[in-house]
Amino acid sequence: MEVTIWPDSDSASVFAADIVDKQITKKPDSVLGVPTGGTPLKMYAELVKRHSEGNLDFRRVSTFNLDEYVGLDPTHPSSYAAYMRQNFLQYINIQFSNVHIPNGTATDLISCCNDYEKLIKNAGGIDLLFLGIGTDGHIGFNEPTSSFRSKTRLKMLTDQTRKDNSKYFKSMADVPEYVITMGIATIMEARRIVLLAFGKKKADIVAAMIEGPLASMVPASILQMHEKTMIILDDEAASKLTQRKYYSKLDKVIPD
Ligand code: F6R
Repeated sequence: MEVTIWPDSDSASVFAADIVDKQITKKPDSVLGVPTGGTPLKMYAELVKRHSEGNLDFRRVSTFNLDEYVGLDPTHPSSYAAYMRQNFLQYINIQFSNVHIPNGTATDLISCCNDYEKLIKNAGGIDLLFLGIGTDGHIGFNEPTSSFRSKTRLKMLTDQTRKDNSKYFKSMADVPEYVITMGIATIMEARRIVLLAFGKKKADIVAAMIEGPLASMVPASILQMHEKTMIILDDEAASKLTQRKYYSKLDKVIPD
């Protein structure tokens, strides 16, 4: 695990965009795993900016989203399909046939999950996967006690996650209870992983993920077992790390 600490989420997000930039420059048909939520918004904005300035070409890139709410149609404003269009996809030259988001309204949700795994395999696997982290330690929507061997499947959200995400809905009652999420094993199969975490609210769980024991109660702790994982933090999210000074001294090198 490589931990990099930045003064704020602006500088951290530019660095995250640099990683995408380098990946796509090196491999124009890269397969990216992509998250939603508040954390990656500045990274998406930076990527859109670079694309609009003619510096980044997404024509051959494919994307796989980590998750989607069950029961929300892609046109629903709180769906992750809508989030991706609004914050990223509509502004870049990606081919829509290369965009993959689990279908939360599929009539056969189980087949939809299994097919998602096949789609990832057929695309050659994920080259670079971005993650956020939930305040309960989830990655994707693999909530505490998720199996480390899990694949894309249906999951029930914890009350904590539903509460955290209720800001994107009219009320808590409108937050779906179920989601489709890539599994932990699906995530771990990505060749390279970058997790972003910003703000005080994430400080405790970030410390548990990086410096705590490997535990299914902190699903993100599994990243300790991935060879090529980088954790990108702002100062606040890093504030509870005991080895914070050490991480701050390390060079911030964009992974090759
Ligand atoms: C979203 C996802 C989640 C979020 C996490 C953090 O696609 O997979 O794991 O990354 O809930 O959300 P924010 O960034 O809103 O704090």
